[in-house]
Amino acid sequence: MEIRQLSHQDSIPMDLLLLADPAEEMIQKYIARGETYIAEHGGIVVGVYIFVSLGEGTVEIMNIAVREEFQGKGLGKQLILDAMNGIKQAGYKRIEIGTGNSSIGQLALYQKCGFRISGIDRDFFLRNYPEVIVENGIQCVDMIRLSLVL
Ligand code: COA
Repeated sequence: MEIRQLSHQDSIPMDLLLLADPAEEMIQKYIARGETYIAEHGGIVVGVYIFVSLGEGTVEIMNIAVREEFQGKGLGKQLILDAMNGIKQAGYKRIEIGTGNSSIGQLALYQKCGFRISGIDRDFFLRNYPEVIVENGIQCVDMIRLSLVL
């Protein structure tokens, strides 16, 4: 698997980005402000992540996704580790990421990569998403904020 920055010639892997964030309008906004990296395997895009600078040496990973057939094989962890490495090399000091209270696997993954819970944005998903989101039998209402000092 090769991970590289998305170039102007590449099309945006919107199908993948929508796995992590159902709001295409929000994706279009942060993709314009951030840096997008894709993972390719056998000529197809199997993973993606986007980060945006928040200023003061901090970036936020706004979206990370692995194509469904390729999930559970360690690619998500590889993408996070690649992001951590590249973001550190670019001189940033801290990474933030947010996920839903119902995103059990994502909470496990980020903590296994060293992220620690730094806060809770209560009712974030009720305020920002018109549709009801349910995962693992739990309604997604709060955003769990996690951070990692590089
Ligand atoms: N409990 C405990 N650990 C869990 C878990 C659970 N329910 N679900 C996943 N994990 C662990 C895995 O065991 C693995 O840890 P290990 O390396 O110690 O074995 C780790 O999380 C990462 O697994 P990995 O195979 O690298 O993840 P992945 O390739 O499936 O990618 C996502 C993870 C989240 C990127 C992927 O599932 C995805 O694209 N989901 C849809 C989009 C999404 O939700 N994006 C995030 C939005 S916040």
